[in-house]
Amino acid sequence: MTVILRTVADLRALVRGWKAEGHLVGVVPTMGALHDGHLSLARRAKAECGRVITTIFVNPKQFNNPDDLKKYPRTEDADAALLRWVGVEAIFAPDPAEVYPAGFVTNVSVGGVSQPLEGASRPGHFDGVATVVAKLFGMTQADRAYFGQKDWQQLQVVQRLVADLNLAVTVVGCETVRDPDGLAMSSRNVRLSAAARQKAPALYAAMLAAARDFRAGVAVDQAMSRATATLLAEGFDSVEYIDLRDAETLGPMTDPTRPLRMLAAAWLDGVRLIDNIAV
Ligand code: PAF
Repeated sequence: MTVILRTVADLRALVRGWKAEGHLVGVVPTMGALHDGHLSLARRAKAECGRVITTIFVNPKQFNNPDDLKKYPRTEDADAALLRWVGVEAIFAPDPAEVYPAGFVTNVSVGGVSQPLEGASRPGHFDGVATVVAKLFGMTQADRAYFGQKDWQQLQVVQRLVADLNLAVTVVGCETVRDPDGLAMSSRNVRLSAAARQKAPALYAAMLAAARDFRAGVAVDQAMSRATATLLAEGFDSVEYIDLRDAETLGPMTDPTRPLRMLAAAWLDGVRLIDNIAV
C-alpha cells in the first residue's frame, strides 16, 4: 500500500516506526510530472531499501523564472498511480506552507560547484535546490537518496552539500534514462510541440559528435563551436552553454587525468533542454 502524506509530523511518525522496525529508508526527491526516469530511481530505491518515500513538491525557491514555475506540469493523481504501481510505501506531497511556513528565513548556499553553467544561467536556482534538499533530508530522515544524473550539476551540488554538512544520508546518482531516439527524459519534454520533439534528439547527437571530435584531437573550443552550429542549423533557438568540465567540480578542465563531463543547455521551441555525457 502507498500512503500519501501532507505534513512533516505524519511523515516523521511513519519513518520513526519504520526505523524502529529496522528498515533502511530511501527517498526519491521529485517535483512530480513523473516519467520513466523518475520511476527508474524509485525502482532502484525499492531494490536497495526496506521502505521508500517519493517526495512530490514543486519547489518555488528553485525557479528563477515565475512563468516556468506557473507552467511546470502538476499531475499528482497520475504520479500517485505510477508510484503505487512501482510499490513505493509513501508519497510525501506537502503544500508550500508546510515546507516554508511563515517566518522561514534560512537559505542553504553551496559555493563553488553551484556557480558555473546552470548557476550562472539561473541565479539562485541551486540555493533553492540545496535549501529544499537539505529540508527534505531533515524531514524524511532517509538513509539513502536517489538522484538522476540527467541533472549532473545538481547531483554534484547535493554531494557537496551532504559532505560539507556531514548529513547522514548516502546520495546515489542514477543513469540518465533516454527515449529510444536519445532524448533525455524530462518533465519539460511534454511542452515541446510535435515538430520540436522530432528535432530535440539533436542535442544528445551533437554532444556525442563533439565528444568524438575531442577524443580525435579537435580543440575543445572548436568541438563546442561545431556542436553549437549544428544545433542552430537543426532549428534550436539558441545554445545557452555547451562545455567540457571537470566532472566533479564543474570548473574548467585543468587536469586531463580527472573525469570529464560535457554539459549543455539549449532552447528549442521555447523549452529549455539540458543534457550531459561522460567524456
Ligand atoms: O530534480 C528535481 O526534481 C528537483 O530539483 C529536486 C531535487 C526534487 C529539488 O526540488
